[in-house]
Amino acid sequence: MRKPSFKSWPLLAIVCFAIQAVASIDSEVPPGPKWLQAAVFYQVYPQSYFDTNGDGIGDLLGITAKLGYIQSVGCNALWINPIYESPFGDAGYDVADFYKVASRYGTNEDLQNLCAEAHKRGMHVCLDLVAGHTSIANPWFQQSALDRPNRFSNWYIWTPADRNIPGSQPFPGEHNRADRYLPNFFAFQPALNYGYARPDAKEPWQLPTTDPACVAVREELKKIMKFWLDLGADGFRVDMAYSLIRADPDGKGINALWHYYRSWLDKEYPEAVLISEWSNPAAAIPAGFHVDFLIQSGELAYQKLLGPNSRPNGAAREPHAFFERAGGGDIKAFVDNYLRNYSVTNSAGYIAMPTGNHDIPRPTYGRAEQEVRTIFAMLLTMPGVPFIYYGDEIGMSFVDSAPDKEGGTLGTLSRCGSRTPMQWSKEKNAGFSTAPVEQLYLPIDPCTSRPDVATEEKNPGSMLNFTRALLSLRRNHPALANNTGFKPIYAEKNSYPFVYLRSADSEQIIIAVNPAAHACLLQITGLKDASPLLVQGATLQSGRLAMDPVSFGIFSVQPDGVPTGIPVN
Ligand code: NOJ
Repeated sequence: MRKPSFKSWPLLAIVCFAIQAVASIDSEVPPGPKWLQAAVFYQVYPQSYFDTNGDGIGDLLGITAKLGYIQSVGCNALWINPIYESPFGDAGYDVADFYKVASRYGTNEDLQNLCAEAHKRGMHVCLDLVAGHTSIANPWFQQSALDRPNRFSNWYIWTPADRNIPGSQPFPGEHNRADRYLPNFFAFQPALNYGYARPDAKEPWQLPTTDPACVAVREELKKIMKFWLDLGADGFRVDMAYSLIRADPDGKGINALWHYYRSWLDKEYPEAVLISEWSNPAAAIPAGFHVDFLIQSGELAYQKLLGPNSRPNGAAREPHAFFERAGGGDIKAFVDNYLRNYSVTNSAGYIAMPTGNHDIPRPTYGRAEQEVRTIFAMLLTMPGVPFIYYGDEIGMSFVDSAPDKEGGTLGTLSRCGSRTPMQWSKEKNAGFSTAPVEQLYLPIDPCTSRPDVATEEKNPGSMLNFTRALLSLRRNHPALANNTGFKPIYAEKNSYPFVYLRSADSEQIIIAVNPAAHACLLQITGLKDASPLLVQGATLQSGRLAMDPVSFGIFSVQPDGVPTGIPVN
């Protein structure tokens, strides 16, 4: 079939939306790099992964040294959080030099070497592209803030000082222009000026996207991408990808921008991948991204599935999340939202639902390991590109006591609990670093029973080996591939389990998940035969699905019609 062009995507979206009514969606291979079809990402928070020079901070040599481990988990691609020169006010999301690896992580050559070693193993490496803002320490901003016009004057969005435009900030220094700049996140992260899609004629400081300064910013981002791709990177996770164009109510401005980059990449770097931080695959994929995170920072889909992203001091947990023992979840609301996104994107790109990331609590927070396994059973058998956050594969904890570090605390949300050093062994500093304890980037989880890789390697029943087993199933069963079919069989409000069918031409697999503390029974009609592939307290015999509390089942099935779930009281 002819690949859909960007121009035909809106029409395609309407057609797909109509098809959604049928609820069963057979996927096609999305355009873009072939390697995405089998990609399983591992997110590395570099400062907390593995320290090879004993300074207490993880480094690029450390990531290179652990490629074999990452591959052994079943992952074949990396997303590394920002590694550029930075004052680290926001853990590196405040970039001072986009072309230089921060010395605490190593050198550009180390990154080149990391990419080369990954490629030798058939793995891919994606960097974090902080497209929307810089640090105030970035020389571009320092120049822009001078009161004499120069080439950088309009690279940021400067508003008249006397107007006090909401959110605008005064330059934190002396002898500079009086105007105030607009930040993109923290106040020390001034927004780069990609322009206004619909500038207000009465506000001349709002520049159109065609203004030479905005065009220069646009071209600089391309230059940055080219620089790292030429060095060996395979693509980018784009920070706040939705945020670049202002006054853009219909999204035409942001679409045009990302189409521009994607067309260039398709031509010059067809194997390079763009992954967006957007939380809206139905918008991000048609805008040109190959992958978008549906859940990542406490948005509605995340809450429906996993609960609120902030539970300071053990505050009450969301009773309506699906993955709660209380069992009051509304998986239907999640599935409706998922299908809305999936129907628009499944032949054009991929949805990602990570196990966690550096901004949200780890899945273990407030949960026993058996419960976490039900989460993994679902996340790692859904369509799309899986992402495992470092340490989630061994069941690392969200460390409540972690101190604030490098902008980790956001209101009531402490992000540092998910950023503590990787636990490799029972050696000093959990094998993360040989530095004195007080020099570590963040303290190691103080819990005496904390998990570690070396111990779990020896235990066939460990979380690590469970993660491996799930990813091995995914790798070896075409029905569980990133782009094969998906159909919910049973997904009802206040009812458990959640059951869905994954299908390829050659096979069909049913996945059933019951995170609730009560057992449940379901009759699945339209099944000839079923055999278990991986289960925890679940059986499927003669169409009768019996699930213990906190259980899951992955079954290879032979349908005899359209499988449908009917609850048995
Ligand atoms: C999203 C990143 O994931 C987060 O860690 C960062 O603080 C903000 N973007 C600002 O760059």
